[in-house]
Amino acid sequence: MNTIKKNIIKYEKEEKTLDFSDFQKQNIKFDIKKLQDSYNQIVQTKKFDDGGGVTHFGAISLTQIPGNPDSVKGSKARGVYWTKPDKSGNEVSRDVCIDESAYSEFIKDYENTYFKEVFDVLSSKYKLGRVRILLKKPRSTLSWHRDPEARLHIPIITNPGAIMVVDHVAKHLPADGSVWVTNNTKYHNAFNGGEENRIHLVACVLDYKFN
Ligand SMILES: [Fe+2]
Repeated sequence: MNTIKKNIIKYEKEEKTLDFSDFQKQNIKFDIKKLQDSYNQIVQTKKFDDGGGVTHFGAISLTQIPGNPDSVKGSKARGVYWTKPDKSGNEVSRDVCIDESAYSEFIKDYENTYFKEVFDVLSSKYKLGRVRILLKKPRSTLSWHRDPEARLHIPIITNPGAIMVVDHVAKHLPADGSVWVTNNTKYHNAFNGGEENRIHLVACVLDYKFN
């Protein structure tokens, strides 16, 4: 058998065994039109925080430590993660540790948007940490990294080239009001290969168990 044929068979076998259990669709749905309208309303007056100078990244925090607006600025808009920066394969931690459970206050500026309703539903079902609207700019990628806890995603604006990869399994999350929890405690990445911004509501989930 020639090499090309062998590779095709190998690929087909791997495809059959792809396991999407690190992307878990939740049994909740929100109104995508209202999410998009609220997002468009917010960005008329609010700017994305660049997480202390991270390229192609932006965050608008919807929650904060009560009475502490500084708790959502700079590094705190991003937070600790681990990565393997060079060929030694040694893991290093980056950025600052976050006390996720302290982010219990929904920021007043957004109380009259649909995001408040979304927040109330989510916080009745999950133990949430920070809740942010995250921007991934066109033709950009995060690092290959892992986070301390799972993430809940509600895609608001996306395109087919916006893909999340968890432990070598890749998936596009559609912007149709669905809610996903992804296993960010494994090595992962998100990239936006499209030509328009990707916008997700992303919440840290502190009590989610993957099998
Ligand atoms: Fe991450």
